[in-house]
Amino acid sequence: SVTRVYNFTVQPLSVTRLCKTKSLVAVNGMFPGPTLYANEGDRVIVNVTNTAEYNITIHWHGIRQLLSAWSDGPVYVTQCPMQTGQSFVYNFTLTKQRGTLLWHAHATWLRGTVYGAIVIFPEYGTPYPFKAPDEEHVIILGEWWYANVEEVETTALLSGGPPAIANAYTINGLPGPLYNCSYTGTGNVNTSDTYVLKVAAKKTYLLRVINAGLNTDLFFSVSNHKLTVVEIDGDYTKPYTTDKIVLTPGQTTNVLLSTDQLAASYYMWASPYISAQNVSFQKIQTLALLEYEGFTTSAAVLSSAFPAANDTNSVTTFSTSLRSLDNSVYPEDVPQTVDRSLLITVGLGIKPCDENHICQGPNRTKFTASMNNFTLVLPDVAVLQAYFFNIAGVFTRDFPDNPLFPFNYTGNPPANQTPGRGTKATVLPFNSNVQIVFQDTSIQGIESHPIHLHGFSFYIVGQGFGNFNSSSPASFNLVDPPKRNTIGVPVGGWAAIRFKADNPGIWLVHCHLEIHTSWGLSALFLVPDGVGPSQSLPPPPADLPQC
Ligand code: C2O
Repeated sequence: SVTRVYNFTVQPLSVTRLCKTKSLVAVNGMFPGPTLYANEGDRVIVNVTNTAEYNITIHWHGIRQLLSAWSDGPVYVTQCPMQTGQSFVYNFTLTKQRGTLLWHAHATWLRGTVYGAIVIFPEYGTPYPFKAPDEEHVIILGEWWYANVEEVETTALLSGGPPAIANAYTINGLPGPLYNCSYTGTGNVNTSDTYVLKVAAKKTYLLRVINAGLNTDLFFSVSNHKLTVVEIDGDYTKPYTTDKIVLTPGQTTNVLLSTDQLAASYYMWASPYISAQNVSFQKIQTLALLEYEGFTTSAAVLSSAFPAANDTNSVTTFSTSLRSLDNSVYPEDVPQTVDRSLLITVGLGIKPCDENHICQGPNRTKFTASMNNFTLVLPDVAVLQAYFFNIAGVFTRDFPDNPLFPFNYTGNPPANQTPGRGTKATVLPFNSNVQIVFQDTSIQGIESHPIHLHGFSFYIVGQGFGNFNSSSPASFNLVDPPKRNTIGVPVGGWAAIRFKADNPGIWLVHCHLEIHTSWGLSALFLVPDGVGPSQSLPPPPADLPQC
């Protein structure tokens, strides 16, 4: 293994999309940002300098950060932000993961434009456990607004309600030909601003697909071509062949595509999956092109109708079909017993306005979000520093293992479910086997929440609709469940995960819909040190930004 060194300068960049130019925050003058390449086992050093006018941190989404929690990045959890002019060196080793992940800003909503891919090749000398592709390409999906994401954020938070729907979804930063300069949802085709992937016939391509969007799950497909999933969130899967895949924000999926069709130009597309059943969204798609060398037709082929925006069936089929590879080279290690078991409700509520809160929402209220009826409030110092240096008064260790007031989570919502607020962690003893059931709730409408856990990948041992109950574990897969870092909890349902708490630190768990993160759909896990230096978090690096 080697050390890979990257330099990131966070800076403003002028970008034109949908016929309008705006200044956004980007890295190294690129949008999307640069791709990090490394092999499993490598050390990665990223020297980040912030020259933009916003405070920022960078998070390496899905990187385990084993014994390197200081480099994880969520603002006020593991570090204070880099202010304008400040720098920080992120320094971590890629341990037992390979495939595609992403990096993104983790302060305010800057990840709407500050994002890029992480490509982790297998260890040196190790082949892929599938047919070696002839070429590999990153396909990074995103969301675009005419306004700056900072304004989209401010407007949404002031309103107390949901954020503006993106004006376009993007593929590698480009909105594709369906949009004209005053997009109305139909009609005029604009062929500029389209990502084109040129391919040769009869070859195999590895597409590294990432959803870097802020607030929207996305389907992805390539007309007339099958996609074979071989890896998700940095772990190999048994090959699974399908017409379309779906990714929540934060999820990544590697697929193999054979160019086995007639030489032509084919649209690839992304379209939204909107699980909330009490809202109607305008449905918009984005297109890009897969163009064969020497193709003979001039019009591109668009096949397979877009799924309905609320096509939960397709999402369920896809997510329940995935299995980890689990072979002799990559054996899985699913915890068979559980030391620490939690049930965490994930959902929204209405909060009356109070002295500290903006309350321009419906009926002078604002939406809020919670886990086990607590809304996470981020302090103005980093929780990890407070923990490491024993600074009192920053956080408490009383996040509950279960909802304080159990109710029929997916039935008629009870009255008076105003969440409490706090900076609450729960302790997961070092090396304990942890099981968490995430239970969606019906308060303010059921909705799929993509829950992301920092510091760990976890096995998704089961999922279902309705309320989790004592017979649910009978359906668990404890042999080859898929391993991920972000789980789309089924709309009106539950998902059960297991992992070993072998990584000391303070770890954020949160809904990866950015609006829900802002509303506090988050909690903290505290994993204390084990025995000796190989199981203990080292002290913070000297350049860790201070608040
Ligand atoms: Cu991809 Cu906490 O983030």
